[in-house]
Amino acid sequence: MSDVRYSAKRPERHLNAALTIGSATMSHDGGMLTSLTSAFHYDFGYSWPFTSGHLLVCVVALLAGAFAWWRGQRGWLLGLAALVAVWGLAGAIAMHYAVQINEPARLASERFLPSGGGRVLELGAGSGRATVGLLLARPQARVTAVDLYKGYYGIDDNSAERLKRNAATAGVGDRVEVTVADMRQLPFEPATFDAAMSVAAIDHLDWPDIEKALRETARVLKPDGQLLVVSLNSDVWVRVAIPPAIHGTGFWGSRQLVQRWRDVFAKTGFDITETGTAPATLYWLVTRR
Ligand SMILES: C[S@@+](CC[C@H](N)C(=O)[O-])C[C@H]1O[C@@H](n2cnc3c(N)ncnc32)[C@H](O)[C@@H]1O
Repeated sequence: MSDVRYSAKRPERHLNAALTIGSATMSHDGGMLTSLTSAFHYDFGYSWPFTSGHLLVCVVALLAGAFAWWRGQRGWLLGLAALVAVWGLAGAIAMHYAVQINEPARLASERFLPSGGGRVLELGAGSGRATVGLLLARPQARVTAVDLYKGYYGIDDNSAERLKRNAATAGVGDRVEVTVADMRQLPFEPATFDAAMSVAAIDHLDWPDIEKALRETARVLKPDGQLLVVSLNSDVWVRVAIPPAIHGTGFWGSRQLVQRWRDVFAKTGFDITETGTAPATLYWLVTRR
């Protein structure tokens, strides 16, 4: 695996400037400040433990520390409170800046949909975090967002309506349609789409279902169509924010197995174009044979 670090910012801006002159659409990828303020613009619905849980822990620890100080406690209690407060702050920064829990997700690969346009299938679109990110980054693309909207995936009131509201807020609502369906059984004709994408979604299935969904994606993609698969990477950002990732078991172990992904892509008719990482992110850009 070539461990390419995320470097899309400049090329992305350049590419999109060429497509829509004077466009400021990439401002959604504006760095730390944008990450911390985007919650005021969008409502992707991730539950409070993910969006504000870390900050809450930080504030409670600070208050506990202040109380301990006031009571003349200068020992281990104060040290513990300081440690927990620092963890809470670091976790909040990781969730908002690296995981981008409540802002349009940045496009992991600048090589995805380089023409800027085309009909894109999104698998497991949820409340539209990645949908909006893609539509902002690729101003001539149209997205068919597929989701089952069943079960809990960290999003409250996960629904097509929520996705559409977020797309409208971003000013891209006219370029997205939602189909409620199972990514393992797609209700589309063969060779319907120019490209496909799945962010923190297909990787949530177990391996036999990932294989099924990839076969279905290959069927509905045009030959040479690209597929971008983005998964949470248990790098330092994620390990700070979500300590269970440190153990590397379950989802955190098996979905990180690069060789396993290579095998499943090869089996289902895809060639790997690029694999890489970004903060909290592991991605594969593959092309249908
Ligand atoms: C963790 S959420 C990610 C949502 C969005 N892509 C994001 O990055 O915020 C995973 C999504 O996958 C959807 N999903 C899970 N299994 C699915 C399936 N078999 N077919 C379609 N969607 C599915 C869930 O409903 C959920 O919206």
